[in-house]
Amino acid sequence: MNTDTPLKIGGLTARLPFIQGGMGIGVSLGRLAGTVAKEGGIGIISAAQIGYREPDFDENPLGANLRAMHTELAKARELAGGAGGGVVGFNIMVAMKHYEEYVREAVAAGADIIISGAGLPTELPKYTDGSEVRLAPIVSTAKSAAVILKYWDKKYKRIPDLLVIEGPTAGGHLGFTREQLGTFTPDVYEQEVSEILGIVEGYEEKYGREIPTALAGGIDTPEKVRRAFALGVDAVQCATCFVTTEECDADLRYKQAYIQAGAEDICIVKSPVGMPGRAISNDFLRRVDAGEKIPHRCHQCLHHCNPAEIPYCITDALIHAAKGEVDDALLFCGADAYKAERIETVHEVVTRLFSE
Ligand SMILES: Cc1cc2nc3c(=O)[nH]c(=O)nc-3n(C[C@H](O)[C@H](O)[C@H](O)COP(=O)(O)O)c2cc1C
Repeated sequence: MNTDTPLKIGGLTARLPFIQGGMGIGVSLGRLAGTVAKEGGIGIISAAQIGYREPDFDENPLGANLRAMHTELAKARELAGGAGGGVVGFNIMVAMKHYEEYVREAVAAGADIIISGAGLPTELPKYTDGSEVRLAPIVSTAKSAAVILKYWDKKYKRIPDLLVIEGPTAGGHLGFTREQLGTFTPDVYEQEVSEILGIVEGYEEKYGREIPTALAGGIDTPEKVRRAFALGVDAVQCATCFVTTEECDADLRYKQAYIQAGAEDICIVKSPVGMPGRAISNDFLRRVDAGEKIPHRCHQCLHHCNPAEIPYCITDALIHAAKGEVDDALLFCGADAYKAERIETVHEVVTRLFSE
């Protein structure tokens, strides 16, 4: 597999073997995803509170989100060259309330692919039954890969159309405990990737069909792209390096926070629902660390959230980020976010990573 070999996923073809990872809230919407798809990659819209700009979002978050899934996908399709143009889909987190409704709406809207992590998407095939949408679970460890592949094999007699392997340097919520983040150095994680690829191979043999794999986490240079392919994956998934693009859907001040950050500003936070995540240290996080409780109302986002117990609402904090209200925001980012030096276009990022 080469860095310029098209990525084939169950009858879909992306000209270049990369996926732009979904970024919520409001960081990868129709504009970023559509531009990426036009450039030859797979553009992924984050479904997380996607309707946050809809007038009725506060009263009816589910309805606003379901509606916005259609508008953002239509926007992406148009940018990507219409039907038969580039490949576009949704990232839908298992941890979201109303997960099933979001999945069914992605199918109704005509998404090419659903990528699903932040929990194991055990029932995803059930919710998409009868549709052509391609399904891609996200796993972080060999253990989670083994569980989801076995479950889909036993219960649905099927394999994923793509498997995303997300490593410890990724952005957003992470599929590792804090202890694992300490032990999985890049070298050690490469062994985990090999183990995951070994598990995948077993199912490829059983079904007589390939399961394309994509590696995610800190892949932002041509060298890192080549290194990923040398490990044996078929594609890479990149997110952080698309935040500082003109076409990224978040406010310019969010992008500038990446450019201004130093290595020492990137930290691991415990999100209100207990999962570790990676973010840029700022006033907001210092206030939370000091014990401040930030008043909020519930926007019905995550399953395992008890609004009475959390120090702040993650939806509010991520919406502040998307709107550029950076002092009140949770600024999710990957481990290498501080390396961004300027705002680029998607075309420049893609050319830099894949032109060799
Ligand atoms: C700002 C930001 C928001 C993210 N939001 C989500 C999300 O909503 N759902 C998800 O599954 N992954 C999310 N991710 C993870 C990315 O999709 C991607 O897999 C990962 O960040 C890749 O690593 P990189 O950012 O170092 O390239 C997010 C990442 C970033 C940087």
